[in-house]
Amino acid sequence: MRLKNKLAVVTAGASGMGRAGCELFAREGAKVAVVDINEKGVNEVVAAVKAAGGEACGVIADLSKHEECRRAVNDAAEKLGGIDILWSHAGIPGTSDVEDIKIEDFELSMNLNVTSAFFSAGAAAKHMRKRGKGSIIFTASVSGLVGSQLSPLYSAGKFGVVGLTKSLALRFAPDQIRVNVVCPGLTNTPMLRQFMGRNVDDKAAAETQARFMTMIPLARLARPEDIAHAALWLGSDDSSYVTGVSIPVDGGFVAK
Ligand SMILES: NC(=O)c1ccc[n+]([C@@H]2O[C@H](COP(=O)([O-])OP(=O)(O)OC[C@H]3O[C@@H](n4cnc5c(N)ncnc54)[C@H](O)[C@@H]3O)[C@@H](O)[C@H]2O)c1
Repeated sequence: MRLKNKLAVVTAGASGMGRAGCELFAREGAKVAVVDINEKGVNEVVAAVKAAGGEACGVIADLSKHEECRRAVNDAAEKLGGIDILWSHAGIPGTSDVEDIKIEDFELSMNLNVTSAFFSAGAAAKHMRKRGKGSIIFTASVSGLVGSQLSPLYSAGKFGVVGLTKSLALRFAPDQIRVNVVCPGLTNTPMLRQFMGRNVDDKAAAETQARFMTMIPLARLARPEDIAHAALWLGSDDSSYVTGVSIPVDGGFVAK
């Protein structure tokens, strides 16, 4: 078991990659706090982990609000008895607008993609210091490594998360807290449809997806578990000398 006796917090843990991470971390021996805005989803994941013989608890929070990020991490620490691992996975595609964008849409995207990572990490670091070390994992995207014509705002936020990773890795290194980021490519979760076009019909979205598929050397979508396994490695002591890195988990998309 690679996370035996570790205490792990996963944000946006009620669906997709976050859910896969909660279930995988628990199978590998961690006690997991599932943080999400979706109470029903959180309860389902907690029940699934327990049914499989693992340990989990839930924390409901709207992570687009910075004070909720702190509160959620602190609640999770209290329920778990500390924090060794934070996978700050929350994020949204948000609007694809540029010229006529509303400031509320801009702020929602930045809040969930960047502010939530920043505040969750800051709160978690305080708990990790008490345990002598820790691992913070962010989720960016291939759009945080290369530009995105479809999603310039999302891409700007995810580049921000990649930069934040490097800076916090330096800031927290003296405390033996490592900070790394996974950069998923197209992943088969409910969010995928939004990336393929916010205001287009399903046919147009399918055409966009088919076009992207031709750019993926391994020629398939990622499974949520593919990303969760990268997060598992970063959370475990197997990566104990790795900090400040961005790991594309993208079937080779950014290798071109
Ligand atoms: N799916 C992809 O193709 C893809 C690719 C690259 C990066 N990502 C990144 O992965 C992360 C999540 O993706 P997923 O595909 O696992 O998503 P998903 O759609 O399966 O799940 C998203 C989760 O976020 C939760 N959520 C939404 N708003 C929230 C809020 N305000 N507060 C708390 N929780 C909230 C939802 O309830 C849901 O459980 C995001 O950071 C996203 O940018 C996704």
